[in-house]
Parts: sequence; C-alpha cells; structure tokens
Amino acid sequence: MNDLKSLIIPDKVPRHIAIIMDGNGRWAKQKGMPRVLGHRSGVKSVREVTEAAGEIGVEYLTLYAFSTENWSRPPAEVTALMSLLVETIRGEIRDLNKNGVRLQAIGNLEALPKSSYKALLEGIEQTKNNKRLTLVLALNYSAKWEILRATRLLAEQAASGTLRPEDIDERAFENALSTRGIPDPELLIRTSGETRISNFLLWQIAYAELYFTPVFWPDFGKEQLFEAVLSYQRRERRFGKISEQLV
Ligand code: FPP
Repeated sequence: MNDLKSLIIPDKVPRHIAIIMDGNGRWAKQKGMPRVLGHRSGVKSVREVTEAAGEIGVEYLTLYAFSTENWSRPPAEVTALMSLLVETIRGEIRDLNKNGVRLQAIGNLEALPKSSYKALLEGIEQTKNNKRLTLVLALNYSAKWEILRATRLLAEQAASGTLRPEDIDERAFENALSTRGIPDPELLIRTSGETRISNFLLWQIAYAELYFTPVFWPDFGKEQLFEAVLSYQRRERRFGKISEQLV
C-alpha cells in the first residue's frame, strides 16, 4: 500500500475530493447481515479514508452521508443511521482534533432530528480551529434543494434592492450555495458500481473528474483512495482547451 502512496505526485493531489459512499446495504446482504451492520462497517471506511486524505495533503473531503431522498427508507434504518451519526461524531471528536481535521456540514441541517443536529453543531464547534483537512458531511443534502435555496436568496436580495440582477455572476451564485468558501471538487468518487450522480453537488462538479469503482463502501479504504487519486493524476484536465495549450 505504501508503494501506491509513493506513486502519488504531491503537487497534483486534488484539493477537494467528494465521495458518494454507496453499497453498505449490498455489502451486508452479501454477508447475510442486517443492512445496519453495513452502515456500521461503513464508518470504518470513513475513518480510514479521512486519514488517507490527510496523509496525502487533500484539503477538503466531502462525504454524502444522507441524502434528502434517504428519508424514504424504512423508518428503522433511518433511525439507525441518525444514531450512528451522533455516535460517530461524538466518538471521533478527540481523534479529529488529534489529526487536525475540521468538521463541517452541508444540507438542510435544521431539519435533522434534534439530537443529530446538536451532535453535529458540537462537532463543528469543537473542531473549528483545525487546519489540516476539512471533512464536510453532506447531510439531508440535495443539490437541487441547494440550488433552489441559493436562487431564492438572490431573488430576495434583488427584490429588496440590495442586488442588481446583472451582478448575479458565478461568484455571487457560489456565495449563495452551502459550499460557500469551499473550492469545487476536482475528483468525485462513487463506490458500489453505480454510475449516477444522485443529486449530489450538481453545480460544484461542473469540471470534476468522475471515478466509479465496483467496490462496496465498507471495502473502500486507504489503498482504494490512493488508486482513485492515481487514476485522477493520469488524466489530462483540459478545461475546454486542447492538449498543446496546457504545457
Ligand atoms: C449507502 O449505502 C450509504 C448510506 C446511505 C449512508 C452512509 C453512511 C455511513 C457510511 C455511516 C455514517 C457516516 C458518517 C459520516 C458518520 P446504501 O445503504 O445505499 O447501500 P445499498 O445501495 O447497497 O443499499
């Protein structure tokens, strides 16, 4: 695994990696275990990938932990996921601080169950001075919700006369999104063989490299993250230009 890590070019590590953690349920089913145990094992991957990202100098890691659509899962699974979240955040704060990880969150956070919301705010507050890596949890998140919210915010400012419609440019729009201040991800990973974006960071991934792997999330660890980064580094990012213009 150290070999893989040593192949990574430090200057070309993405500043921001976003991950759609998928396949916990299928991983558990394959092993004849309840789905919830898949989510529990998924927490191990969260820990390992966060550590790996810090080791290679990634500045922002965004994890899709709960989508707005996930509320339609069986109530027992939703409750279990929420408890796991509270438990994980509380249990990890000490390690996050030890490793210089700052916790942040995006999504409709106020609509989370009170205990989850409270644990989240505590985690954010207690890690706010860490500088090495920012771990952004997308919780009760939906990109369409986020884009609509930004649009509404800008429309309100325009209606009240504090913003001229002609001043609504990319920057103004980005400042109205919940990812304000966070650079766009250069690399988006989805595990479990699904090749969809599922309402995740639609605005922010305009130029992201997409990496899909058949590995289920509980089996995704350091080595798999390094492999994804190496794949990213082998690609040529042209941003609409031709190869010869890149030098
Ligand atoms: C997708 O697997 C995973 C989720 C919906 C939840 C992800 C949550 C965790 C890894 C645990 C908590 C995370 C943190 C950050 C504390 P799935 O259930 O959709 O799997 P399936 O597609 O195989 O059913």
